[in-house]
Amino acid sequence: QSEIYRAGISGTKPLVPIDSAALEAAAQKVLSAEAFAYIAGGAGAERTMAANRAVFDQWQVWPRPLRDVSVRDLSIDFLGRARPTPFLLAPLGVMEMAHTDADLAVARAAASLGVPYTLSNQASFPMEEIADAAPDAPRLFQLYWSASDDLNASLLRRAEASGCEAIVVTLDTHLLGWRTRDLDLAYLPFTRGMGIAQYTSDPVFQQLVRERVRAAEASEVPDAAPAVKITPQAIAAGVKIARKGKTLTGAGLRESLRSPLPRAAVETFLDVFSTPALTWEDLAKAREWTSLPIVLKGIVHPDDAARALDAGADGVWVSNHGGRQIDQSVPTLAALPGVVARVAGQVPVVFDSGVRQGSDAFIALALGATAVAIGRPYAYGLGIAGEAGIREVVRNLLAELDITLGLSGHTSLAELSPDALRACVQG
Ligand code: FNR
Repeated sequence: QSEIYRAGISGTKPLVPIDSAALEAAAQKVLSAEAFAYIAGGAGAERTMAANRAVFDQWQVWPRPLRDVSVRDLSIDFLGRARPTPFLLAPLGVMEMAHTDADLAVARAAASLGVPYTLSNQASFPMEEIADAAPDAPRLFQLYWSASDDLNASLLRRAEASGCEAIVVTLDTHLLGWRTRDLDLAYLPFTRGMGIAQYTSDPVFQQLVRERVRAAEASEVPDAAPAVKITPQAIAAGVKIARKGKTLTGAGLRESLRSPLPRAAVETFLDVFSTPALTWEDLAKAREWTSLPIVLKGIVHPDDAARALDAGADGVWVSNHGGRQIDQSVPTLAALPGVVARVAGQVPVVFDSGVRQGSDAFIALALGATAVAIGRPYAYGLGIAGEAGIREVVRNLLAELDITLGLSGHTSLAELSPDALRACVQG
Protein backbone atom coordinates (compact mmCIF):
# COMPACT_ATOMS: atom_id res chain seq x y z
CA GLN A 1 0.00 0.00 0.00
CA SER A 2 2.63 2.52 1.04
CA GLU A 3 4.51 1.60 -2.16
CA ILE A 4 1.44 2.62 -4.15
CA TYR A 5 0.97 5.94 -2.32
CA ARG A 6 4.70 6.71 -2.45
CA ALA A 7 4.65 6.16 -6.21
CA GLY A 8 1.92 8.83 -6.20
CA ILE A 9 4.29 11.36 -4.54
CA SER A 10 6.76 10.93 -7.37
CA GLY A 11 3.97 11.29 -9.90
CA THR A 12 4.12 7.64 -11.03
CA LYS A 13 0.63 6.62 -12.07
CA PRO A 14 -0.52 3.02 -11.75
CA LEU A 15 -0.21 0.89 -14.91
CA VAL A 16 -3.74 -0.38 -14.50
CA PRO A 17 -6.76 1.31 -12.91
CA ILE A 18 -7.25 0.30 -9.27
CA ASP A 19 -11.05 0.39 -9.33
CA SER A 20 -12.38 -2.87 -10.80
CA ALA A 21 -15.01 -1.26 -13.05
CA ALA A 22 -12.40 1.14 -14.39
CA LEU A 23 -10.04 -1.81 -14.92
CA GLU A 24 -12.66 -3.58 -17.02
CA ALA A 25 -13.37 -0.39 -19.00
CA ALA A 26 -9.66 0.14 -19.67
CA ALA A 27 -9.36 -3.45 -20.92
CA GLN A 28 -12.35 -2.98 -23.19
CA LYS A 29 -10.51 -0.12 -24.89
CA VAL A 30 -7.50 -2.25 -25.82
CA LEU A 31 -9.15 -5.60 -26.60
CA SER A 32 -10.95 -6.55 -29.81
CA ALA A 33 -14.75 -6.69 -29.50
CA GLU A 34 -14.59 -10.49 -29.69
CA ALA A 35 -11.88 -10.84 -27.06
CA PHE A 36 -13.64 -8.51 -24.64
CA ALA A 37 -16.98 -10.27 -25.12
CA TYR A 38 -15.37 -13.65 -24.53
CA ILE A 39 -13.55 -12.58 -21.37
CA ALA A 40 -16.13 -10.27 -19.79
CA GLY A 41 -19.23 -12.22 -20.72
CA GLY A 42 -21.31 -14.74 -18.81
CA ALA A 43 -24.13 -17.17 -19.46
CA GLY A 44 -27.64 -16.14 -20.51
CA ALA A 45 -28.77 -12.80 -19.10
CA GLU A 46 -25.63 -12.80 -16.90
CA ARG A 47 -27.67 -13.00 -13.69
CA THR A 48 -25.23 -15.43 -12.07
CA MET A 49 -22.41 -13.02 -12.81
CA ALA A 50 -24.36 -10.18 -11.20
CA ALA A 51 -25.37 -12.34 -8.22
CA ASN A 52 -21.74 -13.37 -7.65
CA ARG A 53 -21.04 -9.70 -6.95
CA ALA A 54 -24.30 -8.79 -5.20
CA VAL A 55 -23.98 -11.49 -2.55
CA PHE A 56 -20.88 -9.81 -1.12
CA ASP A 57 -23.21 -6.97 -0.05
CA GLN A 58 -24.84 -9.33 2.43
CA TRP A 59 -21.72 -9.22 4.57
CA GLN A 60 -20.00 -6.38 6.37
CA VAL A 61 -16.54 -6.33 7.93
CA TRP A 62 -16.82 -5.81 11.68
CA PRO A 63 -13.84 -3.69 12.83
CA ARG A 64 -12.18 -4.24 16.22
CA PRO A 65 -9.62 -1.49 17.00
CA LEU A 66 -6.82 -1.35 19.60
CA ARG A 67 -5.37 -4.79 18.96
CA ASP A 68 -1.79 -4.06 17.83
CA VAL A 69 -1.83 -5.07 14.20
CA SER A 70 1.60 -3.68 13.33
CA VAL A 71 2.86 -7.07 12.09
CA ARG A 72 0.53 -8.95 9.77
CA ASP A 73 0.83 -12.33 8.09
CA LEU A 74 -1.04 -13.09 4.87
CA SER A 75 0.42 -16.55 4.36
CA ILE A 76 -1.58 -19.75 4.12
CA ASP A 77 -0.91 -23.43 3.98
CA PHE A 78 -2.23 -24.94 0.77
CA LEU A 79 -1.77 -28.53 -0.41
CA GLY A 80 1.03 -29.11 2.03
CA ARG A 81 3.06 -26.00 1.23
CA ALA A 82 3.32 -22.55 2.79
CA ARG A 83 2.26 -19.81 0.36
CA PRO A 84 3.01 -16.13 0.93
CA THR A 85 -0.53 -15.03 0.02
CA PRO A 86 -3.99 -16.60 -0.10
CA PHE A 87 -4.38 -15.80 -3.81
CA LEU A 88 -4.29 -18.16 -6.76
CA LEU A 89 -4.60 -17.29 -10.43
CA ALA A 90 -7.64 -19.17 -11.72
CA PRO A 91 -7.27 -21.12 -14.98
CA LEU A 92 -8.13 -18.84 -17.91
CA GLY A 93 -8.07 -20.32 -21.39
CA VAL A 94 -7.26 -18.58 -24.66
CA MET A 95 -5.31 -15.70 -23.12
CA GLU A 96 -3.70 -15.11 -26.53
CA MET A 97 -6.86 -13.08 -27.11
CA ALA A 98 -5.74 -10.65 -24.40
CA HIS A 99 -2.00 -10.51 -25.14
CA THR A 100 0.44 -12.30 -27.43
CA ASP A 101 2.52 -13.39 -24.39
CA ALA A 102 -0.60 -14.98 -22.89
CA ASP A 103 0.32 -17.74 -20.41
CA LEU A 104 4.03 -16.96 -20.60
CA ALA A 105 3.24 -13.58 -19.03
CA VAL A 106 0.93 -15.22 -16.49
CA ALA A 107 3.63 -17.68 -15.45
CA ARG A 108 6.29 -14.96 -15.15
CA ALA A 109 3.98 -12.75 -13.09
CA ALA A 110 3.16 -15.73 -10.86
CA ALA A 111 6.86 -16.46 -10.36
CA SER A 112 7.64 -12.91 -9.27
CA LEU A 113 4.63 -12.76 -6.94
CA GLY A 114 5.02 -16.25 -5.47
CA VAL A 115 1.36 -16.77 -6.29
CA PRO A 116 0.47 -20.13 -7.86
CA TYR A 117 -1.12 -20.05 -11.29
CA THR A 118 -3.46 -22.64 -12.66
CA LEU A 119 -2.42 -23.61 -16.16
CA SER A 120 -5.58 -23.98 -18.21
CA ASN A 121 -6.24 -26.97 -20.41
CA GLN A 122 -7.07 -24.29 -22.99
CA ALA A 123 -3.84 -22.32 -22.51
CA SER A 124 -2.27 -20.80 -25.60
CA PHE A 125 1.17 -22.41 -25.34
CA PRO A 126 2.10 -26.04 -24.63
CA MET A 127 2.52 -26.54 -20.87
CA GLU A 128 6.22 -27.43 -21.30
CA GLU A 129 6.91 -24.05 -22.95
CA ILE A 130 5.08 -22.23 -20.18
CA ALA A 131 7.08 -24.14 -17.58
CA ASP A 132 10.31 -23.16 -19.37
CA ALA A 133 9.28 -19.48 -19.38
CA ALA A 134 9.08 -19.45 -15.57
CA PRO A 135 10.50 -22.64 -14.07
CA ASP A 136 10.16 -21.35 -10.50
CA ALA A 137 6.51 -20.38 -10.71
CA PRO A 138 4.31 -22.54 -8.50
CA ARG A 139 1.66 -24.06 -10.75
CA LEU A 140 -1.31 -26.38 -10.93
CA PHE A 141 -2.69 -27.97 -14.08
CA GLN A 142 -6.40 -27.69 -14.85
CA LEU A 143 -7.94 -30.56 -16.79
CA TYR A 144 -11.13 -30.58 -18.80
CA TRP A 145 -11.98 -34.24 -18.69
CA SER A 146 -11.71 -35.31 -22.31
CA ALA A 147 -13.85 -37.89 -24.06
CA SER A 148 -10.53 -39.67 -24.69
CA ASP A 149 -9.13 -41.32 -21.58
CA ASP A 150 -5.81 -41.81 -23.35
CA LEU A 151 -5.63 -38.06 -23.85
CA ASN A 152 -6.53 -37.40 -20.18
CA ALA A 153 -3.80 -39.75 -19.04
CA SER A 154 -1.29 -38.16 -21.41
CA LEU A 155 -2.11 -34.60 -20.30
CA LEU A 156 -1.76 -35.54 -16.63
CA ARG A 157 1.53 -37.30 -17.29
CA ARG A 158 2.84 -34.18 -19.02
CA ALA A 159 1.59 -31.95 -16.20
CA GLU A 160 3.42 -34.04 -13.64
CA ALA A 161 6.59 -34.19 -15.75
CA SER A 162 6.59 -30.43 -16.32
CA GLY A 163 6.42 -29.60 -12.62
CA CYS A 164 2.77 -28.94 -11.79
CA GLU A 165 2.05 -29.37 -8.09
CA ALA A 166 -1.54 -30.52 -8.38
CA ILE A 167 -4.32 -31.31 -10.83
CA VAL A 168 -7.51 -29.27 -10.88
CA VAL A 169 -10.37 -31.11 -12.56
CA THR A 170 -13.07 -28.70 -13.72
CA LEU A 171 -16.52 -30.22 -13.32
CA ASP A 172 -18.83 -27.49 -14.58
CA THR A 173 -17.96 -27.49 -18.28
CA HIS A 174 -19.13 -30.88 -19.56
CA LEU A 175 -21.23 -28.71 -21.89
CA LEU A 176 -20.23 -25.22 -22.94
CA GLY A 177 -22.47 -22.54 -21.39
CA TRP A 178 -24.98 -20.44 -23.33
CA ARG A 179 -22.70 -17.44 -23.82
CA THR A 180 -24.92 -14.70 -25.17
CA ARG A 181 -22.27 -12.19 -26.18
CA ASP A 182 -20.23 -14.80 -28.07
CA LEU A 183 -23.35 -16.16 -29.77
CA ASP A 184 -24.23 -12.67 -30.97
CA LEU A 185 -20.78 -12.36 -32.51
CA ALA A 186 -20.82 -15.99 -33.74
CA TYR A 187 -17.49 -16.28 -31.94
CA LEU A 188 -15.93 -19.32 -30.31
CA PRO A 189 -12.13 -19.01 -30.14
CA PHE A 190 -11.55 -22.77 -30.28
CA THR A 191 -13.22 -23.14 -33.67
CA ARG A 192 -10.68 -20.61 -34.92
CA GLY A 193 -7.82 -22.74 -33.72
CA MET A 194 -7.11 -20.75 -30.55
CA GLY A 195 -6.61 -22.23 -27.09
CA ILE A 196 -5.87 -25.76 -28.29
CA ALA A 197 -2.10 -25.85 -27.79
CA GLN A 198 -2.21 -28.58 -25.09
CA TYR A 199 -3.93 -30.77 -27.65
CA THR A 200 -1.88 -30.08 -30.77
CA SER A 201 1.31 -30.64 -28.75
CA ASP A 202 0.08 -33.98 -27.40
CA PRO A 203 1.10 -37.28 -29.03
CA VAL A 204 -2.26 -38.91 -28.28
CA PHE A 205 -4.14 -36.02 -29.85
CA GLN A 206 -1.85 -36.00 -32.86
CA GLN A 207 -2.64 -39.64 -33.41
CA LEU A 208 -6.38 -38.87 -33.26
CA VAL A 209 -5.91 -36.14 -35.89
CA ARG A 210 -4.00 -38.52 -38.15
CA GLU A 211 -6.77 -41.08 -37.83
CA ARG A 212 -9.34 -38.44 -38.69
CA VAL A 213 -7.47 -37.29 -41.77
CA ARG A 214 -7.02 -40.89 -42.94
CA ALA A 215 -10.70 -41.60 -42.45
CA ALA A 216 -11.53 -38.49 -44.48
CA GLU A 217 -9.13 -39.58 -47.21
CA ALA A 218 -10.66 -43.05 -47.26
CA SER A 219 -14.13 -41.60 -47.66
CA GLU A 220 -12.80 -39.60 -50.61
CA VAL A 221 -14.29 -36.33 -49.47
CA PRO A 222 -13.04 -33.71 -51.93
CA ASP A 223 -10.33 -31.44 -50.45
CA ALA A 224 -9.71 -33.85 -47.56
CA ALA A 225 -6.25 -34.87 -48.75
CA PRO A 226 -3.68 -33.24 -46.48
CA ALA A 227 -1.50 -30.76 -48.30
CA VAL A 228 1.40 -31.42 -45.92
CA LYS A 229 2.88 -34.49 -44.33
CA ILE A 230 1.15 -35.19 -41.00
CA THR A 231 3.74 -34.67 -38.32
CA PRO A 232 3.22 -33.14 -34.85
CA GLN A 233 4.93 -30.00 -36.10
CA ALA A 234 2.69 -29.84 -39.14
CA ILE A 235 -0.42 -30.18 -36.99
CA ALA A 236 0.74 -27.40 -34.66
CA ALA A 237 1.81 -25.22 -37.59
CA GLY A 238 -1.46 -25.84 -39.36
CA VAL A 239 -3.35 -24.68 -36.31
CA LYS A 240 -1.11 -21.63 -36.00
CA ILE A 241 -2.13 -20.65 -39.52
CA ALA A 242 -5.72 -20.94 -38.45
CA ARG A 243 -5.40 -18.79 -35.39
CA LYS A 244 -3.82 -15.66 -36.66
CA GLY A 245 -6.68 -13.89 -34.95
CA LYS A 246 -6.93 -10.28 -35.90
CA THR A 247 -4.88 -10.35 -39.07
CA LEU A 248 -6.45 -13.45 -40.53
CA THR A 249 -10.16 -12.80 -40.53
CA GLY A 250 -13.10 -13.21 -42.83
CA ALA A 251 -12.28 -14.89 -46.12
CA GLY A 252 -8.63 -15.53 -45.21
CA LEU A 253 -9.52 -17.33 -42.01
CA ARG A 254 -12.26 -19.36 -43.63
CA GLU A 255 -9.83 -20.31 -46.36
CA SER A 256 -7.18 -21.53 -43.90
CA LEU A 257 -9.69 -23.61 -41.94
CA ARG A 258 -10.77 -25.16 -45.22
CA SER A 259 -7.29 -26.62 -45.57
CA PRO A 260 -7.40 -30.14 -44.19
CA LEU A 261 -4.89 -30.14 -41.35
CA PRO A 262 -6.10 -27.19 -39.26
CA ARG A 263 -9.65 -28.25 -39.87
CA ALA A 264 -8.99 -31.83 -38.80
CA ALA A 265 -7.22 -30.63 -35.65
CA VAL A 266 -10.05 -28.27 -34.70
CA GLU A 267 -12.71 -30.87 -35.43
CA THR A 268 -10.84 -33.49 -33.40
CA PHE A 269 -10.60 -30.98 -30.54
CA LEU A 270 -14.35 -30.35 -30.66
CA ASP A 271 -14.93 -34.12 -30.49
CA VAL A 272 -12.71 -34.82 -27.51
CA PHE A 273 -12.86 -31.53 -25.55
CA SER A 274 -15.23 -32.80 -22.86
CA THR A 275 -17.83 -35.40 -22.16
CA PRO A 276 -21.31 -34.86 -20.72
CA ALA A 277 -21.32 -38.55 -19.73
CA LEU A 278 -18.79 -37.98 -16.92
CA THR A 279 -19.76 -39.37 -13.49
CA TRP A 280 -18.26 -39.62 -10.00
CA GLU A 281 -17.23 -43.19 -10.79
CA ASP A 282 -15.09 -42.02 -13.72
CA LEU A 283 -13.12 -39.69 -11.46
CA ALA A 284 -11.43 -42.65 -9.81
CA LYS A 285 -9.40 -43.11 -13.00
CA ALA A 286 -7.55 -39.87 -12.37
CA ARG A 287 -5.90 -41.54 -9.39
CA GLU A 288 -4.38 -44.12 -11.71
CA TRP A 289 -3.13 -41.45 -14.08
CA THR A 290 -1.33 -39.25 -11.56
CA SER A 291 0.13 -39.26 -8.08
CA LEU A 292 -0.39 -35.49 -7.72
CA PRO A 293 -3.04 -34.06 -5.40
CA ILE A 294 -6.42 -33.69 -7.13
CA VAL A 295 -8.66 -30.66 -6.57
CA LEU A 296 -12.25 -30.63 -7.84
CA LYS A 297 -13.32 -27.27 -9.31
CA GLY A 298 -16.97 -26.37 -9.67
CA ILE A 299 -18.34 -27.72 -6.39
CA VAL A 300 -21.27 -25.62 -5.11
CA HIS A 301 -23.51 -28.11 -3.29
CA PRO A 302 -22.58 -29.36 0.21
CA ASP A 303 -23.53 -32.92 -0.76
CA ASP A 304 -21.05 -32.77 -3.63
CA ALA A 305 -18.41 -31.51 -1.22
CA ALA A 306 -19.08 -34.62 0.89
CA ARG A 307 -18.94 -36.77 -2.26
CA ALA A 308 -15.61 -35.17 -3.20
CA LEU A 309 -14.19 -36.17 0.19
CA ASP A 310 -15.51 -39.71 -0.25
CA ALA A 311 -13.87 -39.82 -3.68
CA GLY A 312 -10.55 -38.94 -2.04
CA ALA A 313 -10.23 -35.41 -3.43
CA ASP A 314 -7.34 -33.42 -1.95
CA GLY A 315 -9.15 -30.12 -2.32
CA VAL A 316 -12.47 -28.57 -3.24
CA TRP A 317 -12.79 -25.46 -5.41
CA VAL A 318 -16.07 -23.56 -5.00
CA SER A 319 -16.75 -21.95 -8.38
CA ASN A 320 -19.50 -21.30 -10.87
CA HIS A 321 -16.96 -20.49 -13.58
CA GLY A 322 -17.46 -16.78 -13.05
CA GLY A 323 -21.14 -17.09 -14.03
CA ARG A 324 -20.22 -18.33 -17.50
CA GLN A 325 -22.05 -21.66 -17.42
CA ILE A 326 -25.58 -21.45 -15.97
CA ASP A 327 -27.67 -18.31 -15.87
CA GLN A 328 -29.41 -17.59 -12.55
CA SER A 329 -27.26 -20.12 -10.73
CA VAL A 330 -26.20 -20.18 -7.08
CA PRO A 331 -23.70 -17.39 -6.37
CA THR A 332 -20.55 -18.90 -4.99
CA LEU A 333 -20.33 -16.82 -1.80
CA ALA A 334 -23.80 -18.13 -0.88
CA ALA A 335 -22.57 -21.69 -1.50
CA LEU A 336 -19.31 -21.28 0.43
CA PRO A 337 -20.47 -21.65 4.08
CA GLY A 338 -22.34 -24.92 3.35
CA VAL A 339 -19.34 -26.40 1.58
CA VAL A 340 -16.95 -25.26 4.31
CA ALA A 341 -19.17 -26.81 6.99
CA ARG A 342 -19.29 -30.14 5.17
CA VAL A 343 -15.57 -30.22 4.41
CA ALA A 344 -14.88 -29.43 8.08
CA GLY A 345 -11.22 -28.66 7.57
CA GLN A 346 -10.36 -32.04 6.04
CA VAL A 347 -9.11 -30.52 2.77
CA PRO A 348 -8.50 -26.95 1.56
CA VAL A 349 -11.40 -25.02 0.04
CA VAL A 350 -10.59 -22.65 -2.84
CA PHE A 351 -13.10 -19.92 -3.61
CA ASP A 352 -13.69 -18.01 -6.85
CA SER A 353 -16.20 -16.10 -8.98
CA GLY A 354 -16.77 -12.41 -8.47
CA VAL A 355 -13.72 -11.46 -6.40
CA ARG A 356 -12.86 -7.91 -7.43
CA GLN A 357 -11.38 -6.33 -4.31
CA GLY A 358 -9.23 -7.22 -1.35
CA SER A 359 -12.24 -6.82 0.91
CA ASP A 360 -14.08 -9.49 -1.13
CA ALA A 361 -11.21 -11.87 -0.47
CA PHE A 362 -11.38 -10.97 3.24
CA ILE A 363 -15.06 -11.93 3.36
CA ALA A 364 -14.48 -15.26 1.58
CA LEU A 365 -11.55 -16.09 3.87
CA ALA A 366 -13.58 -15.19 6.96
CA LEU A 367 -16.32 -17.52 5.75
CA GLY A 368 -13.80 -20.34 5.66
CA ALA A 369 -12.12 -20.34 2.26
CA THR A 370 -8.49 -21.45 2.43
CA ALA A 371 -7.49 -19.65 -0.76
CA VAL A 372 -9.10 -17.20 -3.16
CA ALA A 373 -8.74 -17.42 -6.95
CA ILE A 374 -8.86 -14.47 -9.30
CA GLY A 375 -10.22 -14.72 -12.84
CA ARG A 376 -11.16 -11.81 -15.10
CA PRO A 377 -9.27 -9.03 -13.26
CA TYR A 378 -5.89 -10.53 -14.12
CA ALA A 379 -6.96 -11.12 -17.73
CA TYR A 380 -7.68 -7.39 -17.90
CA GLY A 381 -4.30 -6.57 -16.36
CA LEU A 382 -2.67 -8.84 -18.97
CA GLY A 383 -4.56 -7.16 -21.80
CA ILE A 384 -3.62 -3.65 -20.66
CA ALA A 385 0.01 -4.12 -19.64
CA GLY A 386 1.12 -7.75 -20.07
CA GLU A 387 3.04 -9.40 -17.25
CA ALA A 388 3.42 -6.13 -15.31
CA GLY A 389 -0.32 -5.54 -15.56
CA ILE A 390 -1.06 -8.92 -13.95
CA ARG A 391 1.42 -8.18 -11.18
CA GLU A 392 -0.19 -4.86 -10.45
CA VAL A 393 -3.72 -6.27 -10.33
CA VAL A 394 -2.66 -8.93 -7.83
CA ARG A 395 -0.63 -6.47 -5.74
CA ASN A 396 -3.62 -4.16 -5.49
CA LEU A 397 -5.82 -6.99 -4.25
CA LEU A 398 -3.15 -8.01 -1.80
CA ALA A 399 -2.64 -4.47 -0.48
CA GLU A 400 -6.35 -3.96 0.12
CA LEU A 401 -6.66 -7.36 1.79
CA ASP A 402 -3.74 -6.52 4.09
CA ILE A 403 -5.30 -3.17 5.03
CA THR A 404 -8.69 -4.74 5.67
CA LEU A 405 -7.06 -7.39 7.84
CA GLY A 406 -5.26 -4.77 9.92
CA LEU A 407 -8.12 -2.30 10.16
CA SER A 408 -10.50 -5.01 11.28
CA GLY A 409 -8.12 -5.89 14.11
CA HIS A 410 -6.47 -9.07 12.85
CA THR A 411 -2.83 -10.00 12.36
CA SER A 412 -3.17 -13.21 10.38
CA LEU A 413 -5.59 -15.02 8.12
CA ALA A 414 -5.63 -17.90 10.59
CA GLU A 415 -7.43 -15.61 13.06
CA LEU A 416 -10.34 -15.06 10.68
CA SER A 417 -13.73 -16.61 11.27
CA PRO A 418 -17.32 -15.57 10.53
CA ASP A 419 -17.07 -13.51 13.75
CA ALA A 420 -15.05 -11.00 11.74
CA LEU A 421 -18.22 -10.29 9.75
CA ARG A 422 -21.75 -9.07 10.34
CA ALA A 423 -24.49 -10.62 8.23
CA CYS A 424 -26.75 -7.84 7.10
CA VAL A 425 -30.37 -8.10 6.14
CA GLN A 426 -30.99 -6.77 2.65
CA GLY A 427 -33.19 -3.70 2.17
C1 FNR B 1 -12.44 -18.99 -17.43
N1 FNR B 1 -12.56 -20.04 -16.52
C2 FNR B 1 -11.96 -21.24 -16.80
N2 FNR B 1 -12.04 -22.27 -15.89
C3 FNR B 1 -11.43 -23.44 -16.12
O1 FNR B 1 -11.49 -24.33 -15.29
N3 FNR B 1 -10.69 -23.61 -17.28
C4 FNR B 1 -10.58 -22.65 -18.23
O2 FNR B 1 -9.92 -22.83 -19.24
C5 FNR B 1 -11.25 -21.43 -18.00
N4 FNR B 1 -11.19 -20.43 -18.92
C6 FNR B 1 -11.74 -19.21 -18.64
C7 FNR B 1 -11.58 -18.17 -19.56
C8 FNR B 1 -12.08 -16.91 -19.26
C9 FNR B 1 -11.88 -15.81 -20.25
C10 FNR B 1 -12.77 -16.68 -18.04
C11 FNR B 1 -13.29 -15.32 -17.67
C12 FNR B 1 -12.95 -17.72 -17.15
C13 FNR B 1 -13.18 -19.82 -15.20
C14 FNR B 1 -12.14 -19.30 -14.21
O3 FNR B 1 -11.21 -20.29 -13.89
C15 FNR B 1 -12.78 -18.82 -12.88
O4 FNR B 1 -13.57 -19.84 -12.34
C16 FNR B 1 -13.62 -17.56 -13.05
O5 FNR B 1 -13.03 -16.67 -13.97
C17 FNR B 1 -13.76 -16.87 -11.71
O6 FNR B 1 -14.63 -15.81 -11.79
P1 FNR B 1 -14.19 -14.28 -11.98
O7 FNR B 1 -13.07 -13.98 -10.99
O8 FNR B 1 -13.77 -14.12 -13.40
O9 FNR B 1 -15.45 -13.55 -11.67
